Amino acid sequence: MRLIIDTDAGVDDAQAILMALAHPGVTVEAITTVTGNTHVDWVIRNVFTVLSLKGVRVPVYRGAASPLVPGFWQPEVRVHGEDGLGNYRNRPAEYPPTEPEPAAVALVRLADAAPGELTLVALGPLTNVALACRLDPDFPRKIGRFVFMGGTIAAKGNTAPHITAEFNIHCDPEAALIVLEAFPLATMLSWETTLYHPFSWAQYDALIAQDSAAARFVADTTRETISFLRQHPRVPGYLLPDPLAMAIALDPDLIHAHEQHYVAVEVQGRQTRGQTVVDYFGLLGRAPNVDVVTDVNMAGVYELFRRAVS
Ligand code: BDR
Ligand code: CA
Repeated sequence: MRLIIDTDAGVDDAQAILMALAHPGVTVEAITTVTGNTHVDWVIRNVFTVLSLKGVRVPVYRGAASPLVPGFWQPEVRVHGEDGLGNYRNRPAEYPPTEPEPAAVALVRLADAAPGELTLVALGPLTNVALACRLDPDFPRKIGRFVFMGGTIAAKGNTAPHITAEFNIHCDPEAALIVLEAFPLATMLSWETTLYHPFSWAQYDALIAQDSAAARFVADTTRETISFLRQHPRVPGYLLPDPLAMAIALDPDLIHAHEQHYVAVEVQGRQTRGQTVVDYFGLLGRAPNVDVVTDVNMAGVYELFRRAVS
């Protein structure tokens, strides 16, 4: 599998990247970066920190620093820390330069050079992917498979003031609108599917107890938020938004249940801007544009994660 990762890394993005790097038969051909969990300048440092942990080189491209339309973006300091990696200290002394091309230009070029062969996994706001769709209207059809973490399928959002939106879509609703209108069929790992597929705290403890640099990295980058999350009555366990999206990209057989629907993006609405609106009953008469994943094989996800931190 030839993979491109678009990321706003991000603690859980970093875990997803580790999963991809550890997966046999997968080549991570490029990582494109975007502002989301933290500013893109931090995202780039975070991606290089993950790559240096594994001692691998992957071309990294600088992407959009802000959404298409200035709006409500703010860094997710509560969950990801000031730096996007839980205020992680054990960083490389210096970072290599990013590739000279902007992320969206690189996405278009890479897809053009290998039509139908690339899997694109988007783990943050869809700004870069939307720009690539605008640069080349055929870009979506040249991507073999497009998987994204984002959106809500039952209006149970995780942002304010737009309480029915999921963070990635909330950051750049117009980008999400462009992308979902452009791709023939995007595979969606929503916030609700994330909520229903946590690791138990016992599973999480076992994973970070492994004697490896990657396990220590996961423990260190999650320490500040975990104590808060463990006490929170509404948090069912360790949540895995981007790792779940990566897992179903790496191994589509892990998808237990999915439904194809037309999904629109609300770009207005005082409380609903950024909500992904699923036409469950086909009321609009539009062809399905999204494969909505609702159930995932968690034993398989655990095995991918365990291998990533071994
Ligand atoms: C998404 O937003 C970020 O907090 C995570 O990295 C994930 O991509 C979850 O809403
Ligand atoms: Ca992310």
